[in-house]
Amino acid sequence: MSVLIENIKELIQVEENPKLLVRGKEMAKIQTIKNAFLYIEDGIIAAFGEMAKLSKQEIITKKDDVRVINCIGKMVFPSFIDSHTHLVYPASREIEYIDKIKGLSYEEIARRGGGILNSAILMKDASEEKLVEDAMKRLDEIISYGTGAVEIKSGYGLTLESELKMLRVIKKLKKLSPLTIKSTFLGAHSVPLEYRGNQTKYVDIVINDMLPLVVEEELADYIDVFCDTGFFTVEDTERILKAGMEYGLRGKIHANELDYSAGIQAGVKYNALSVDHLEYTGDSEIEALLQSETMPTVLPGAAFFLGMKYAPVRKMIDAGLPIALASDFNPGSSPSGNMQLIVSMASILYKMLPEEAINATTINTAYAMGISDKLGSIALGKKANVFITTEIPTYEYLPYYYGTNKVETVILNGEVVETD
Ligand code: NIG
Ligand code: FE
Repeated sequence: MSVLIENIKELIQVEENPKLLVRGKEMAKIQTIKNAFLYIEDGIIAAFGEMAKLSKQEIITKKDDVRVINCIGKMVFPSFIDSHTHLVYPASREIEYIDKIKGLSYEEIARRGGGILNSAILMKDASEEKLVEDAMKRLDEIISYGTGAVEIKSGYGLTLESELKMLRVIKKLKKLSPLTIKSTFLGAHSVPLEYRGNQTKYVDIVINDMLPLVVEEELADYIDVFCDTGFFTVEDTERILKAGMEYGLRGKIHANELDYSAGIQAGVKYNALSVDHLEYTGDSEIEALLQSETMPTVLPGAAFFLGMKYAPVRKMIDAGLPIALASDFNPGSSPSGNMQLIVSMASILYKMLPEEAINATTINTAYAMGISDKLGSIALGKKANVFITTEIPTYEYLPYYYGTNKVETVILNGEVVETD
């Protein structure tokens, strides 16, 4: 099956010489083609360019079976890549959200056994089938908003059985969903109540009991730690990252959300693929990141929802860093996986230009998932995960006209996906 999309008003984020990421000033540039076509064969981008250069005859006769989509007035984007989510969870947590409205902080809620621990209690009794069913609905929802690849973490288990259960669920989702999915083992998401005061013992369990089984069953692509005040220390984090590396799992860690926790430096030291959150990023954190291959990833949804300070994204880009933006979709701190909203937040909250926001949610998040050679832009040979917009006047309209869905048609693996 081939797909020819023609008369595209503007084809966004095209690359002749694909890059694995963009940084600094380059983030403000994207390449586009006006009045364009895009041709997809066997799930792969096989040709694109100006309509004037489309030899339809040649493309149509190459295969009998070509679906032609006329795109007058509409634009085509590479799918959003969401490199940080916790979208497998047993239940929503809107009651705790009321506590937040009444003034309790994230740390206070966590200290009372709420937050992540609340999800962990419910996870214990959740069936794999129900978790898969609920997560599939969330995946379908994010597909309809334009996401084409997503990373999903464990971390609501916090026991051997429950962590393995969560990771098995993610493995099933990889088979069931048309999305490209990567899974991350986050055994060190929160310290279970019974290990409070004896945190090292829990870290031992993560390293010695959980990790070997996770690897044996091939349940994870990456490893994560919540390195922050009130959660895991730099020492805990370094031990876990080192153990992960010994099994070939690179880190993607939660760092510097609540304080200058030195988590960023720990991630860089162990060559993490990404460090995420980053509200507390100062000069020495920027310096460490500049010397690294680690993608600084900001999660606007969580900072917005929790009313926290915002990461100094402008300063980081001006210093020459790349920035990725992901949703952090989870029931506690960011109950939305809508990447269009993240693009708007990028501009509204972080003063990012639309081009920077697009790079940050496509090619740079693809890098943060280790898939930027296959996804994240319109380039020959890349996987055909793209979306067609509604009729929009400019691509700048995407962040500007926030709150409604501007995605009309979704194509994943070269096939049109039915969305509601
Ligand atoms: O990324 N910061 C740590 N973990 C999640 C929150 C998860 C939760 O509250 O359930 C986050 O925001
Ligand atoms: Fe997170």
